[in-house]
Amino acid sequence: MSTATDEDLKSIPRHIAIIMDGNGRWAKERSLPRTEGHRAGADTVRRVTEGCGELGVEYLTLYAFSSENWKRPKREVDALMKLLEQFLRTKTPEMKEQNIRLQAIGRLHDLPKSCQDQLHRSVEATSQNSGLTLILALSYGGREEIIDGIKSLLESVERGHLDKAMIDGEVFSKHLYTRYYPDPDLLIRTSGEMRISNFLLWQLSYTEFYITPRLWPDFNKEDLKDAIREYGRRQRRFGGI
Ligand code: IPE
Ligand code: IPE
Ligand code: MG
Repeated sequence: MSTATDEDLKSIPRHIAIIMDGNGRWAKERSLPRTEGHRAGADTVRRVTEGCGELGVEYLTLYAFSSENWKRPKREVDALMKLLEQFLRTKTPEMKEQNIRLQAIGRLHDLPKSCQDQLHRSVEATSQNSGLTLILALSYGGREEIIDGIKSLLESVERGHLDKAMIDGEVFSKHLYTRYYPDPDLLIRTSGEMRISNFLLWQLSYTEFYITPRLWPDFNKEDLKDAIREYGRRQRRFGGI
């Protein structure tokens, strides 16, 4: 067993969000089709989820498919959707066993019907679990979420359930896809890109960022611990002193 009890691992983020980037580059380095990179990336999802569970992280949000990813070639989009469905189908028993509760955020109705059905089955099958909450961001965009949140707020006002004067940050948060979860404490992005790419725009306002050059298929439990150690060294001030 490794040293998961390291002194500097004592500050475990309650919620980790990850922009899982670099599958394409990983495949390219090996002269493989991009799909092979995505396949290897799915294995990393399993590893990292397990790692988070072992370390006592409560929420893990994984950016799996963005609103903008729909503009990729149809072949790649189809392969990603197939992989997602297959991942859910084959990993659900394991998630049940590991006490993982699966959730999803995004414009889920845009996913292929069979994917939506499998997603609902997996969410349902794990709904009673009390360990790590794994949240998949699918067909997710931060701006889209904010727009959907505004629509939902307006609807509440129109129906007389909410007074316009009562709207503040806390009320607005309750109209976002993430209303049941705390904001992320730590954001990890693999593959070195220094951008948010439309991920959790509202929720990341005071999140600590950790960007690593490691490509997502190569990211392992040690890398996860490195990120958490670095997080433990940060001083969070939230605008205070
Ligand atoms: C991340 O890897 C996976 C998805 C966005 C679905 P990429 O496919 O973006 O890999 P790169 O950035 O091209 O290397
Ligand atoms: C962000 O990665 C989306 C996901 C990881 C699902 P992208 O590869 O799509 O982001 P950009 O295009 O490099 O900003
Ligand atoms: Mg990318």
